[in-house]
Amino acid sequence: MTRKRSVVKGLGAYLPERVVTNSELARTVDTSDEWIVERTGIHQRHVAADGEFTSDLAIRASDKALADAGVSPSEVDLIVLATSTPDDTFPATATKVQAGLGITKGAAFDIQAVCSGFVYAVAVADNFIKAGQADTALVVGAETFSRILDWQDRSTCVLFGDGAGAFVLRADEARNGDASRGIMSTHLHSDGRHRDCLFVDGGPSSTQTVGHLRMSGKEVFRHAVVNLAAAVGEALDANGLNADDVDWLVPHQANRRIMASTARKLGFSEEKLVVTIDRHANTSAASIPLALADAVDDGRVQEDNLVLIEAMGGGFTWGSAMIRW
Ligand code: ACO
Repeated sequence: MTRKRSVVKGLGAYLPERVVTNSELARTVDTSDEWIVERTGIHQRHVAADGEFTSDLAIRASDKALADAGVSPSEVDLIVLATSTPDDTFPATATKVQAGLGITKGAAFDIQAVCSGFVYAVAVADNFIKAGQADTALVVGAETFSRILDWQDRSTCVLFGDGAGAFVLRADEARNGDASRGIMSTHLHSDGRHRDCLFVDGGPSSTQTVGHLRMSGKEVFRHAVVNLAAAVGEALDANGLNADDVDWLVPHQANRRIMASTARKLGFSEEKLVVTIDRHANTSAASIPLALADAVDDGRVQEDNLVLIEAMGGGFTWGSAMIRW
């Protein structure tokens, strides 16, 4: 028996030109390079230029992903874009990306799951493909978190950056149960009771403002280690695998200590961990494809490798996807 499998045909990433170092931030807010590096692993972040929007970053990353896949925009029949920093309240940023790429068919919509957004978007696109409702999907994570930060709040403004990353996913026939390329499993979770640990204090319906990001860092940290370990364990169990079978663990890049603790807890060696937080900071929904692009570009991730992506974000939301590259 054959069934559809979504295969990652192309990958693209884009970071805005401007780099802001920790030392530069320390000139305007009461912090230090030492504090930021020790607590988070972050050395610098990229920040979008004035007039450069989430859709602009998304289009740049999508262009690269399409070129990498050798797929023309006219073949794309689904765009799922994960963002918490859309250009506008509506229309969906995905539709701006669609227009920017010259695509006039298929469906384009946004997903809002904060830092888990890319895992959610991969799961949604994978299910559309498996159900036969789409053939070639562009899955994008794109953010301009610099626009929702309170630049006076040292406990949050040092943590985030801007960027975008994209997959081209395409339907392939796969024999049931075999280990051919593609998305092998996705698992998604949310628990809305934890809204107050990580939220934006504004919105169109509540305050009619955009608002700023607010976070209880310690609470988020505590939940992250537990939830991410569960999501990784779930992905391994669903595929009958253990940590040794996985070639690369590509976590959402929130904090180097969270990534290292989760990996350790689950028996992954640190060499299998793909880390870009030092250069990108936390780019929310964009962090996983940005990290993957780094590891593909430098030759670490190779065809046939087993790649496990996992994330947790505001909501809380969390999840994972196992991918045969
Ligand atoms: N520079 C210097 N000092 C600081 C800074 C800073 N940038 N920020 C906070 N501090 C101070 C605090 O004021 C506090 O001082 P005090 O002891 O005098 O009160 C002290 O440092 C310790 O603060 P904590 O918040 O307890 O520091 P902690 O070790 O917990 O580290 C951090 C904070 C890095 C935020 C950590 O809790 C963390 O990474 N949490 C997880 C965050 C996360 O993953 N967020 C992303 C989720 S993704 C999403 O969906 C957006």
